[in-house]
Amino acid sequence: MSHFVAMTTIVGTAGSGDAPWWQTAVIYHVYPRSFMDTDGDGVGDLPGVTSRLEYLVGLGVDAVWLSPFYRSPMVDFGYDVTDHCDVDPLFGTLADVDELIARAHQLGLRVVLDFVPNHTSDQHRWFVEARSSRQHPRRDWYVWSDPAPGGGVPNNWRSEFGGPAWTLDEATGQYYYHAYLSEQPNLNWHHPDVRRAMFDVLRFWLHRGVDGFRLDAFRRLYVDLSFPDEPENAAYDPAVDNESFAVVPIHTSEQPELFDTVTELRRWIDGLGDHVLIGEIYLGVEPLMRYHGTAERPGLHLAGNFNLLWTNWDADSIADLVTAYESALPGHAWPNWVLGNHDRSRIASRVGERQARVAAMFLLTVRGTPTIYYGDELGMSDVDITPDAVQDPWEKNVPGKGFGRDPVRTPMPWDLSDHAGFSTVAPWLPLGPDHERRNVERQRDDPTSMLTLHRRLIELRRTVPALALGAIDAVVAVEGVLVYRRHVDQQQVFVLLEMAGRPVTIHMDSLLGTDALPAVEGIDAIEILMSTALDRQGVEGTAVALRADEGLVIGLLHAATPGH
Ligand code: NOJ
Repeated sequence: MSHFVAMTTIVGTAGSGDAPWWQTAVIYHVYPRSFMDTDGDGVGDLPGVTSRLEYLVGLGVDAVWLSPFYRSPMVDFGYDVTDHCDVDPLFGTLADVDELIARAHQLGLRVVLDFVPNHTSDQHRWFVEARSSRQHPRRDWYVWSDPAPGGGVPNNWRSEFGGPAWTLDEATGQYYYHAYLSEQPNLNWHHPDVRRAMFDVLRFWLHRGVDGFRLDAFRRLYVDLSFPDEPENAAYDPAVDNESFAVVPIHTSEQPELFDTVTELRRWIDGLGDHVLIGEIYLGVEPLMRYHGTAERPGLHLAGNFNLLWTNWDADSIADLVTAYESALPGHAWPNWVLGNHDRSRIASRVGERQARVAAMFLLTVRGTPTIYYGDELGMSDVDITPDAVQDPWEKNVPGKGFGRDPVRTPMPWDLSDHAGFSTVAPWLPLGPDHERRNVERQRDDPTSMLTLHRRLIELRRTVPALALGAIDAVVAVEGVLVYRRHVDQQQVFVLLEMAGRPVTIHMDSLLGTDALPAVEGIDAIEILMSTALDRQGVEGTAVALRADEGLVIGLLHAATPGH
């Protein structure tokens, strides 16, 4: 076929009938500050999450992962922890976590916590002790260096949030390393006591019944303690790039010890039950694969695949991405896909409202575990934050360059009451300007809303095994349409996603039997199982007329197909 612009016969293999829960699950990411406020302080809390679990059940998701709620001075809104085993009063109490877990489990939902192993708050007792004297036994729990020979920072390591990754502790005359804010000193994972302490944290939460962990900043746990300069990054453009991009982090990420820790963690947690470890790993396809380990030494259950966050949203680019990712995944590994999170621009803002529906169909029909970021199921977009309303420390450090994350963390709009039912007072970040139109109450019973689309797609995934566990192949971009097949046993479905914003007709009979789909016999008709517009279903001829920005899940009907 001349109009194939990308084609592959790669096969992401089908999962098995007794697949672990995290392979068939749809994960929902809650940012607790912004989900539901029950104590009237304008900030979401744990009882708030518990009170909305039934909503998640209605949506059809299987697991909820919660960004941090641990004790924290909140300089980085909970990613600066002072006690990994306690709850910040802003969010509630340990009893509230217990209740959340118990209620979730009653409702059949799994609970995944955000584990922050890379750093603590500078207010953490461990760091307070470590900085109290060079001789303190806790000193080496963190990463210290003398100043450079002529004075000043020890080397060129950069902080993610702007500036050097070193801060001088004047009292003891040494610098400490922090991959993020100076209020977030890095733990020294080379130290066996640190590793033990952090495993204890995991044990603490496992005993309370959680089902797994998302591992924050996981690439960075170990650094080269001889502190060599990082190489300069030739691709760095100071006009647009984050300053940390000026160097290539070969001495502060992916150190060899990390992969021993991955194996140790995986073996340990698998020995304790049916849990999941999800790595936060911002990497392209090839380098990401290391985190999957090998069949003999498996890595993380899910190595966070964030490639959709920076890949161009068009059929060719996404076909190439799926092909590259599926081809690179080792046989024992399981894929996963993320469209958005609390650190990156929302999908509706990146691709527009119409394509956001197509993106939802992609996320929920491509092979692998999907993660939905709260509010994306309503089509929420990034919200403009005026300079006086800025909360995010990154935006405060590096203003005006678009790094701020407040726009993607605005409150969940639940209903038409004051403050959209999120709180009884003005929330910590403003509601989106469209909250009166875009909220759960408005969308819940609307048969074609974004929320209904998500619910229906998740339902379809449940009822069509090929979508949950089937193999993927025939990934092609044809005339601006992304096409792929999912199949298991005798069941096969196709997904057709119009991504160029123009109507197009795809002739399924001429696609089939070609190099893209050698194994599929000619067909007599297709059956539309779902359209992103949620307005058509049923049997049609073999020419599929897609409207602009429409996605379809279709089945193929042969003359012999029962019922045809
Ligand atoms: C990644 C988290 O997702 C982000 O929100 C946080 O600021 C950094 N890690 C530091 O913990």
